[in-house]
Amino acid sequence: MLQRKFNRTSFLLALVIATFCVLLGAGQAYFFFDLPLVNLLQLSGISFLIILIFVYFLLFYRFENYMINRVRDFYNNLLPSTTSTSILKSFEDIDLLTKNLQKLNSDKNLEIKGLKDQENYRKDFIGNIAHELKTPLFTIQGYILTLLDGEITDQKIIKKYLKQTSKGVDRLTYVVKDLDLITKFESGIETLEIKPFDVLVTLNNVFELLEIQAKKNKITLMLNRKSEVPIWVQADEERIQQVITNLIMNSLKYGVERGITEVAIEPLQEDKILVRISDNGEGIDKEHLPRLFERFYRVEKTRNRKLGGSGLGLSIVKHIIDAHQEKIFVESQANVGSEFSFTLTRAPKSVVKDL
Ligand SMILES: Nc1ncnc2c1ncn2[C@@H]1O[C@H](COP(=O)(O)OP(=O)(O)O)[C@@H](O)[C@H]1O
Ligand SMILES: [Mg+2]
Repeated sequence: MLQRKFNRTSFLLALVIATFCVLLGAGQAYFFFDLPLVNLLQLSGISFLIILIFVYFLLFYRFENYMINRVRDFYNNLLPSTTSTSILKSFEDIDLLTKNLQKLNSDKNLEIKGLKDQENYRKDFIGNIAHELKTPLFTIQGYILTLLDGEITDQKIIKKYLKQTSKGVDRLTYVVKDLDLITKFESGIETLEIKPFDVLVTLNNVFELLEIQAKKNKITLMLNRKSEVPIWVQADEERIQQVITNLIMNSLKYGVERGITEVAIEPLQEDKILVRISDNGEGIDKEHLPRLFERFYRVEKTRNRKLGGSGLGLSIVKHIIDAHQEKIFVESQANVGSEFSFTLTRAPKSVVKDL
């Protein structure tokens, strides 16, 4: 397209120049040398053709060079890092560059969309944090102001209020701790301390820690294991304990009275095991499953607030599992129950032997 337009321009210019030169030459020849008209016409015709062709090609190449240099400068400014300009030798190559430019354009559009999504996400995130902190803060403030009034003298009620205040502080603390951990994982500061440990010991620790909570919620905690032999895995013990705690805590929180939470360990491939935590609790509707591991995501907002969740538990779990390059799965059905499972890597036999 550009080439065709360009040819015509050079041709027209060459035509003007050739006509001008020939008229000038012929006029001079006519007046000064007194040539016969026939010869003069012949000479003029030949000169005209020669000048036309010569000037045309001269202009054509000059113009092409000029345009290509301009386009190359333009590209170099636009994409200093690409090598695409080195292939720009003639106008035919411009098609290729146009394609590059189109690709660049769609890449940039994607980038802008990503940034916009991030911006929205950030706004949501800040809104959620504010909300998470506001609730316990207002509770604390309420109790403290009431106590400061000095009108309550009953020691029992004072103690009760102080206990509530302390609960609010606890809640603030764990939200902040969770946020801190998530931020660390997301910015890649959190490092794992990978070493071999017996995952059965870890499970027993968690069971002991959550025993009271399980009793309170009237849920039976069961460990389904086929043998007493240790199961050595290679991971960050503290973090894996946190994963198991969060998952079992959820099964207690969202379980039903007289329900059962069962933990089982299964061999997977040669070097992997699967830790399964299943409950017969209230379950989760299918529509929520894809977003379950997002920060602050909750299935039912009001219910969970009452239960004191921050909606960060599963997102922390996912971060820890991802950092280990392991996988986590969830299966759930409303009113039937849920099963969360994740993989762990077995410790190599040579390492375990030395322990
Ligand atoms: N075992 C479970 N049974 C039913 N619902 C669950 C279970 N585990 C998680 N959920 C749902 O997933 C949501 C997100 O869990 P989580 O990230 O731990 O946040 P929360 O702080 O609310 O417990 C919970 O609010 C709950 O609705
Ligand atoms: Mg939770």
